[in-house]
Amino acid sequence: MPRTEHWWRDAVIYQVYPRSFADSDGDGMGDLPGITGRLPYLRELGIDAVWLSPFYPSPQHDAGYDVADYRGVDPRFGDLGDADKLITEAHHLGLKLIVDLVPNHTSSEHEWFRAAVSAPKGSPERARYIFHDGKGPDGSEPPNSWQSVFGGSAWERLPDGQWYLHLFDVTQPDLNWDNPEVRAEFVDILRFWLDRGVDGFRVDVAHGLIKDKDLTDWTSTSQILGGLEPAGPPPPMWDQEGVHEIYQQWRSVLDEYDGGRILVAEAWVQPASRLARYVRPDEMHQAFNFPYLDAPWTPPRLAEIIDESLAANDAVGATTTWVLSNHDVVRHATRLGYPVGQARMHGIGAEDPQPDTALGLRRARAATLLMLGLPGSAYLYQGEELGLPEHTTMPDEFREDPAWERSGHTERGRDGCRVPLPWEADAPSYGFGPSDRSWLPQPPVWAEYAADRQQGVPGSTWELYRAALATRRSHHLGGGTLVWERKDENALMFRNGDVLVLTNFGVEAVELPAGATVLLSSEPLDDGRVPADVTVWAML
Ligand code: NOJ
Repeated sequence: MPRTEHWWRDAVIYQVYPRSFADSDGDGMGDLPGITGRLPYLRELGIDAVWLSPFYPSPQHDAGYDVADYRGVDPRFGDLGDADKLITEAHHLGLKLIVDLVPNHTSSEHEWFRAAVSAPKGSPERARYIFHDGKGPDGSEPPNSWQSVFGGSAWERLPDGQWYLHLFDVTQPDLNWDNPEVRAEFVDILRFWLDRGVDGFRVDVAHGLIKDKDLTDWTSTSQILGGLEPAGPPPPMWDQEGVHEIYQQWRSVLDEYDGGRILVAEAWVQPASRLARYVRPDEMHQAFNFPYLDAPWTPPRLAEIIDESLAANDAVGATTTWVLSNHDVVRHATRLGYPVGQARMHGIGAEDPQPDTALGLRRARAATLLMLGLPGSAYLYQGEELGLPEHTTMPDEFREDPAWERSGHTERGRDGCRVPLPWEADAPSYGFGPSDRSWLPQPPVWAEYAADRQQGVPGSTWELYRAALATRRSHHLGGGTLVWERKDENALMFRNGDVLVLTNFGVEAVELPAGATVLLSSEPLDDGRVPADVTVWAML
């Protein structure tokens, strides 16, 4: 595989969630050696790069997005030697590897925060975080009305009376990015991992680092990945102008390294033109396209989002990204099994309405084939190549997502999409590890989705993904240009180079243009016609 400077522009990047990918030692928790051992599977699937969610030392109050040491590996996942082996082996197989960087907040167990708690008010230790006195005569009310994304106030009070800001869990204090010491520290962390050979960083909450200095009140709650209101000024904690100079500085650091190292923004920012400001030529390389992930299964809206995304990114010379699933949302094989237009769910429990699993999988396969036919770069989430659904009946006592507790049990949260993967149908823990342990329970249906039941089986979801990735590469779809042929209530059809992509969203079968030769189809055709909820790639 060529290792060019611009590899990311058309790359398919596969997200590995280390806790749940593969467990090498049988403790029920995935780990780095487990990932390294399964890299040949990813190579065979045909992806270009791996994005690893956090594996750093952490008390794991937010599954590792609460980092206690940015330069280490949590013993649950291995050690630095294992990280080095993983990087080397990925490169050996021609895969790029990007890691997660969590700059908005540290863990409350980070040495800086421990020092801040024991230091007095006004100290340099506290100046690394956002500490304020409270309101009211005795300072017993929080400094303002901001709410945590996980529910409840975004402020927590220390015994000496001062409050600190945490836009996420109480164990995730927000850093003060107006402090030069914080900026210098993160440049050093970037260099630490760049020197070890990583190909880039997915930047967590990239739109949140700078807060409005006046701490203007803002009572609305923000949801994970929830887009900001497209109209009006941004909320005082999100998408502030000051974030951009941070990424310009980081970009200049990355540009000192060879091989095309990249920054990817996780920024919940709307509209697309505003998000595109994060991927201007001197800032990041890519930003996740959450409006696309959130789009309903309706052709006009989907087409509109595709057009807006391409136009906004083209305007700044960036590549457009596409994504359908990740570790924060209900898996798309399940989302699409609910009635069209249903509002985004924040977790599903046994008492909630259950999805139509067969319809969900059928539409998920069609949605994926549509996505992989688009020009740009695509992100896949581990297990989607198996057609894995969400665990929608997990008993609540197993839930670990802080959103479940902090929301007062109104949001079930994200555990259902984080269940350890099934590799072998007939092995303990479905082959996740050598024992029968898995940190979240795997549903009994996992056997039918196991990788060993799908590899080499014509028509399986795994084989569909593998064929799509190979065809995408051989026809250069990632670097192509989209030309619409049809967008109406029933179908979307576009050309990308020499490939025609058609998705039928209606109920009646749709004809392919005369003379079309089918390359790939998400389900068998019906007498040469494209049935409902099916995508076809064809050549004319
Ligand atoms: C976004 C991450 O994807 C999510 O999992 C995490 O909880 C928040 N950022 C806070 O770090």
